Amino acid sequence: MKKKTKNMTKKMAAANLEKIAALFPHVITETTGSGGNDHKVVDLEQLRQELLAVIFGDGERCRFTWPGQKEAILLANTPAAKTLRPAREESLHWETTENLYLEGDNLEALKILQETYLNSIKCIYIDPPYNTGKDLIYKDDFRQDKKGCLSVPGQAGAIGNRLFKNVETTDRFHSAWLNMIYPRLILARKLLRPDGIIFISIDDGEVHNLRKVCDEVFGERNFVACITWANKEGGGRSDCRLFRIKHEYIICYAQDIEKIKIIGVPVSNAGRYRLADKYVKTRGKYYLQKLGMGSIRYSPTLDYPIVTPAGTTVMPADNNKGRKACWRWSRRKFAWGQKNGFITIKKDKKGIWTVYTKQYLNCDHEGNLITRTQRPLGVIDNFSNTQAAKLLNALRLGNCFSYPKPVELIAYLINRVIAKEGIILDFFAGSATTAHAVMQLNAEDGGNRRYIMVQLPEPCPQKSEAYRAGFKNIAEIGKERIRRAAQKIRTETGADIDYGFRVFKVD
Ligand SMILES: C[S@@+](CC[C@H](N)C(=O)[O-])C[C@H]1O[C@@H](n2cnc3c(N)ncnc32)[C@H](O)[C@@H]1O
Repeated sequence: MKKKTKNMTKKMAAANLEKIAALFPHVITETTGSGGNDHKVVDLEQLRQELLAVIFGDGERCRFTWPGQKEAILLANTPAAKTLRPAREESLHWETTENLYLEGDNLEALKILQETYLNSIKCIYIDPPYNTGKDLIYKDDFRQDKKGCLSVPGQAGAIGNRLFKNVETTDRFHSAWLNMIYPRLILARKLLRPDGIIFISIDDGEVHNLRKVCDEVFGERNFVACITWANKEGGGRSDCRLFRIKHEYIICYAQDIEKIKIIGVPVSNAGRYRLADKYVKTRGKYYLQKLGMGSIRYSPTLDYPIVTPAGTTVMPADNNKGRKACWRWSRRKFAWGQKNGFITIKKDKKGIWTVYTKQYLNCDHEGNLITRTQRPLGVIDNFSNTQAAKLLNALRLGNCFSYPKPVELIAYLINRVIAKEGIILDFFAGSATTAHAVMQLNAEDGGNRRYIMVQLPEPCPQKSEAYRAGFKNIAEIGKERIRRAAQKIRTETGADIDYGFRVFKVD
């Protein structure tokens, strides 16, 4: 495996060299390696000369840094020290499934995933610890790894010893969190497809730092949105001193903003479509829009008489308070529209014969049946934490996991990015809500979305409800949740989809 990861690092370096070569061919030169073979290298001095005009000098600069940042970069670039061990007995439909459940530290898992999933993931959703001072942060210490001083990873004890409560009174409170998230985001970005998108849940505590760190990793220009999610049904958190907060955020970045597409949501102003005719079953309801309105540039070919039901004629100017005007449709299109029920001619309130087109909810003006969509709002005010807790209750896992996200929220986000196929990665999987959402969506529309979950076997405290229910760690809860969700979805929908998952342990 070590050889494999060394190869992977080499592969990644070679890919970067190709990118530099494409931009600056003459900075690439050849040298003879220790084995006597010639290979391509970058002449850094030459590259410096190329970039002289844009190289940072001695002046002041605007940059986001924190103690430990350099080590964190190093950590991201260190090859994986671990490997994946299959756990068939914990898996479901091992032979046929394409879903993965990786159990272990996500930093190592993300490194291992680079080998097979580089530029392959369409959507990443993560819900990392928010750094509330109460949640546990996993401590990476690669120097320890190198010396081999760690106890066997994957064992609850070893994991437990590396989780620490990052209390607000420590002077490196924010840096500790940044050092945890930064190398993971660097690795995650490399897994995204060119048209890939990442969603990250966060609250007021670290949202500002997360934005900055994402600007650094993904590039400021690839910022898509900072979505606000109103997460509570009632009146907001009771522990807030000044404003009662009932929202958090979902930060969204693209791998390349030019290549992404956000899938629209069904129109919210459907109430506007109030009228019905004999086509209502297929085209839906409609509203009327004047054929003589709009900002169309005047053209004599669009300025023609239309015969009213009374046998008189009406001109565009008659429908435009006498101003020089034209219709929106050509004669030919008008004739087609009139024949196919898209035109109404009737008197307006002032008794003037007026020509209207019908705007149907489910049909465009070419006669195609459509679902009208609009760009999604940056505020999500449905789907609550309570809803999520209720669903876990229904799976008899109610008190085993605190603050799961609602399946509907994750499904909503996935639906903004993936039509029916693609891989979704969640490397802070918790109770595996994301896996549940993927199965739910596939069952609803026969899609073939796949998931990769990564979860630390974080020990459940002995006094916890989860421990009493037989779960020693959170990974066990996650796997069991997927099994139970699969059962529920199968019973409810009868859908023939991939309910399985292969378990691998990072060790
Ligand atoms: C806020 S929870 C995610 C909840 C999840 N969205 C849900 O709906 O259930 C964060 C999870 O990340 C896990 N975690 C923290 N550090 C990790 C690491 N280094 N590797 C893998 N998982 C980690 C924690 O054990 C916790 O279960």
